[in-house]
Amino acid sequence: MTKLLVVGAGGMLGCDVLRAAESAGVDAVGLTHAELDVSSEAAVSAAIAKVQPDVVINCAAWTDVDGAESSEEAAFAINATAAGILANSGPRLVHVSTDYVFDGNKQGAYVESDPVAPQSAYGRTKLAGEQLVAAASADHAIARTAWLFGVDGANFVETMLRLAEQRGEVSVVDDQVGCPTWTAHLADALVELATNPASGGIHHVAGAGSTSWFGFAAAIFEATGTAVALSPTTSAEFIRPAPRPANSVLEATRPDTPRLPDWREGLNGYLAARPAAVRSN
Ligand SMILES: NC(=O)c1ccc[n+]([C@@H]2O[C@H](COP(=O)([O-])OP(=O)(O)OC[C@H]3O[C@@H](n4cnc5c(N)ncnc54)[C@H](OP(=O)(O)O)[C@@H]3O)[C@@H](O)[C@H]2O)c1
Repeated sequence: MTKLLVVGAGGMLGCDVLRAAESAGVDAVGLTHAELDVSSEAAVSAAIAKVQPDVVINCAAWTDVDGAESSEEAAFAINATAAGILANSGPRLVHVSTDYVFDGNKQGAYVESDPVAPQSAYGRTKLAGEQLVAAASADHAIARTAWLFGVDGANFVETMLRLAEQRGEVSVVDDQVGCPTWTAHLADALVELATNPASGGIHHVAGAGSTSWFGFAAAIFEATGTAVALSPTTSAEFIRPAPRPANSVLEATRPDTPRLPDWREGLNGYLAARPAAVRSN
């Protein structure tokens, strides 16, 4: 039976991957950042020697997209160098990457073989991670995903609900389109990729369908019955340190890529799974 080691196990995705492994009956050990710093080669080798996993799922990352603009070296150490360390550590690796490796200028959805051209420091470090993983061996699986929301992390759904409550009106960009993805759906897919040894190379794994951030916000308010004045805005009016792709819709063309349910189903699943404490905030 496959034994998994989940690194970055205390993060939003990592927590759901451990739950997904448990429900799939797959033996998994999770190590949080405090328990394993994946940027230390010595610490990674000691953890592999101790846990003896068949597959490592890498949920560890620098995920502060705007912060990476002024700290690219520190983001590179985690998103790129550490991914290479994990890929060279022995066991097969399922590595998580991002839609932000694309520039966003394509008309239509991005497939696995489309040219990459990241526009942000975060995207560059994540692309370098993909390249180091691929250089280590073609056997590793790289799962590009997008627009994550889950019960164990700060996410767009909670931000929208908080802003609606605090301000009663919310403006959201309508000119960035992507695939909102519930981490619980993604986690099931990662466990599936981990247990399928023939699934090497790049996979696009995101919620089915697509929408803009404005469309996502509208669905959140509708599903929760939140009364709020929601208006569309543009990226030019809502400037952030890191540029985001205008279009980062991901399409899976590989038959061996696990398909995720529609993003609206993910939103409903998330809303039902939200801790009661969060729901009453
Ligand atoms: N969130 C999104 O919308 C999104 C979209 C596309 C792709 N992704 C990718 O999905 C993956 C999971 O992201 P997430 O949303 O679950 O992020 P997250 O909640 O920020 O989790 C990342 C985890 O990595 C840990 N970490 C950071 N540096 C580490 C190190 N040196 N060693 C070990 N652990 C370390 C963090 O711990 P500390 O917090 O204690 O530092 C955190 O627990 C990442 O690869 C990310 O790039 C995310």
